Amino acid sequence: MEFQIHRVDKNELKDEHISLLLLADPSEKLVREYCQNGYIFSMNEDNELIGIMVLLPIGEESIEIKNIAVDESYQGNGYGKQLLNHGIEFAKQNEYKRIRIGTGNSSLNQLGLYQKCGFRMIKIDKDFFIRNYEEELFENGIQCRDMVILEQLLF
Ligand code: COA
Repeated sequence: MEFQIHRVDKNELKDEHISLLLLADPSEKLVREYCQNGYIFSMNEDNELIGIMVLLPIGEESIEIKNIAVDESYQGNGYGKQLLNHGIEFAKQNEYKRIRIGTGNSSLNQLGLYQKCGFRMIKIDKDFFIRNYEEELFENGIQCRDMVILEQLLF
């Protein structure tokens, strides 16, 4: 697995970055908003874009992974895990005390991945997806209704 992870300036975001970000979050408006204030990382192999991640500080002590996505043709090969671990290391180096990530109750692979990387469930925002999305969302045969918030202490 030969890849590089580097920071992308918000002014250097290209269409390919945005389309990958939309895989994890269908709202382009929200994606563009958090990219303005967040830390954007891209994962590349040679010149190919494999993955992307956006971290957004919440206050001085916490940081949230607002978006993480791996191109569909590269999924299931460990890239997401490497990108997530890079985010955790970045948060530690920048002395954040907590790192947080939210996902849907039906996102079973993501819930598996985040727990394997050390996150624990701390809160459920009931009916978050019912309130915020017009269409009903289904994954793995389960309706996506609730937002599961997971957190990891970094000290
Ligand atoms: N149960 C338990 N663990 C599972 C699992 C399942 N059903 N499915 C996958 N995993 C585990 C894998 O086993 C792997 O762990 P391992 O190395 O111990 O075997 C781990 O998850 C990481 O998998 P990886 O190959 O690194 O993930 P990926 O490269 O496919 O990236 C995503 C993961 C979520 C970023 C990617 O699938 C994606 O972009 N999805 C669409 C966008 C999205 O949903 N983003 C997150 C929004 S909350």
